[in-house]
Amino acid sequence: MLDDARSLKAGLRGNEFEGKTLGLLFFNPSLRTRTSFEIGARQLGGAAVVLEPGKGAWPIAFDPGVVMDGDEEEHISEVARVLSRYCDLIGVRAFPKFADWSKDREDRVLRAVAEYATVPVINLETISHPCQELALMLALQEKFGGQVDGKKFVLTWTYHPKPLNTAVANSALMIAAKFGMDVTLLCPNEEYLLDPRYMDAARASAAANGRTVTVTHDIDAAYRGANMVYAKSWGAIPYFGRWQDEKPMRDTLKHFIVDEAKMKKTDGAFFSHCLPVRRNVKVTDAVLDSPACIAIDEAENRLHVQKAIMRRLMVP
Ligand code: CP
Repeated sequence: MLDDARSLKAGLRGNEFEGKTLGLLFFNPSLRTRTSFEIGARQLGGAAVVLEPGKGAWPIAFDPGVVMDGDEEEHISEVARVLSRYCDLIGVRAFPKFADWSKDREDRVLRAVAEYATVPVINLETISHPCQELALMLALQEKFGGQVDGKKFVLTWTYHPKPLNTAVANSALMIAAKFGMDVTLLCPNEEYLLDPRYMDAARASAAANGRTVTVTHDIDAAYRGANMVYAKSWGAIPYFGRWQDEKPMRDTLKHFIVDEAKMKKTDGAFFSHCLPVRRNVKVTDAVLDSPACIAIDEAENRLHVQKAIMRRLMVP
């Protein structure tokens, strides 16, 4: 798919999606994902329809056997089957509820759509963000001349005033390990470790490539010798549902901001972030506006990797 995305980026165009339609269910806001899927479908002759349940589309219930006497007007079993009659692909963005990770980690919304749909379903960010990780890897391959193997990839937690989704962090860790990078996860303490499902997947990929995944809470050690710094903020999983208890700890961690001094410790590393990014909270202006920053290239690549995903799933 990355090779295909590269060809698409180089200008390969056609009408392969003529007569094809994509249904995009957005339970959360988006700039890049929504725009790039809509434009990507159109560039190859197809169309996309965006639906925001509860805001212009009916609110949806998910539980099997539920008595629907609340706010929800229809069940995912009807939604997914009806959209499957109209569309050739369904995309779903559904962030965790951030109340109980044991429930959120089941990825209930995405799985419910997939259970009832009769067309392929794409994850547009739930508890992982596969489209983002492909765009990141395409950008890394471009910047490292195709040679990402063995490069030191640092995923650093950064401060944000709110607890955010772990999806991008999970995906970044896995794709870097899968492609043979030497991965370091820098986070403030053990509370900010990612779900073992993703840590273990990354470790298994790294081992298969003769590499390692190192976890550290030491900022200097993490940045030292890095070839790539990827920043993301996320909520500490043990504090899901009781964020008021996490806040005092989080508020002491503003020094995890990515700044020029930290970037100087690296081996001339590139920097990126999935965006949106809060300037001078997560990353300084100086880093975001430096030639090392490849966040806009990564964002552009969303368009091309998504066309490659759609081709894989819609064109026989
Ligand atoms: N990175 C990303 O998924 O951006 P959006 O939330 O704007 O879609």
